Amino acid sequence: MSAETILITGGASGIGAETARLAAARGLRVAINYRARPDAARALTDEIRAAGGVAEAFHADIADEAGIVELFDATERALGPIGGLVNSAGIGGGAHRVEAMAAATLEELFRVNVVGLILCCREAARRMSTAHGGAGGSIVNVSSMAATIGGRTGKSHYAASKAAVDAFTVGFAKEVAAEGIRVNAVRPGVVATDMTAAGLRDPATREEIEATIPMGRVGTPREIATAILWLLSAEASFVSGARLDASGGGFVIGRRAV
Ligand SMILES: NC(=O)c1ccc[n+]([C@@H]2O[C@H](COP(=O)([O-])OP(=O)(O)OC[C@H]3O[C@@H](n4cnc5c(N)ncnc54)[C@H](OP(=O)(O)O)[C@@H]3O)[C@@H](O)[C@H]2O)c1
Repeated sequence: MSAETILITGGASGIGAETARLAAARGLRVAINYRARPDAARALTDEIRAAGGVAEAFHADIADEAGIVELFDATERALGPIGGLVNSAGIGGGAHRVEAMAAATLEELFRVNVVGLILCCREAARRMSTAHGGAGGSIVNVSSMAATIGGRTGKSHYAASKAAVDAFTVGFAKEVAAEGIRVNAVRPGVVATDMTAAGLRDPATREEIEATIPMGRVGTPREIATAILWLLSAEASFVSGARLDASGGGFVIGRRAV
């Protein structure tokens, strides 16, 4: 995979940023997409370059179709053909019982987590598919373990958006499997990032969450980035349509049996 270009959406923070660091350290050219964090994106590209890597930052709102197309075009102009895509941009949509859900919240959530992700896959397919003269590639969608349990309390909408990512990943993977493109998802459990920082700051909440994780702790962005990099790499050459759980063992469902 050396000297290949990969594009990471939501790459200025959390799982995306750690994936960018690791990818650059392994010799990939990294395009870092950001939305509202230009300073973080700049600091990350500076950090990667200082370590001898190649990185460029590109602004785009993944909720905006024209912005997505321009993101892919700008990446290829600066760094050459895209061989890998990591869809890490995502939002949580807050925590709401269904009675309290607003249409606008749901539309924003699905526009970023599902529609935007699918459009990014479309742009990747148009460029990578051997059916369009591309050289193939690998795509990793960042889903969530929430999809497997309907989400924690108040997160059914978020879980539904990630279940859509899982189903799309399986179907899309089949569609492009013979055209040189592998498509997989990583399903993180709870990981310490900005998305979870407010909740995990409260010791009682953190303890309650960690009690539900077989390993008894939340994950680090690095532990998700390594899984993503493996799926992107040629080492996973026969893996497509997979949903890889990186979750500390899933969920504790009780310590006794009857
Ligand atoms: N942390 C967890 O426990 C966990 C667990 C399972 C799955 N995930 C998934 O992991 C992915 C990464 O999240 P994270 O934990 O690393 O949290 P994070 O640090 O909040 O990263 C999410 C990134 O997505 C970007 N983003 C959001 N909306 C965007 C948009 N419309 N256009 C472009 N970028 C956008 C954010 O940038 P801005 O803030 O600038 O918009 C941010 O950089 C998400 O898809 C999340 O659902 C996280």
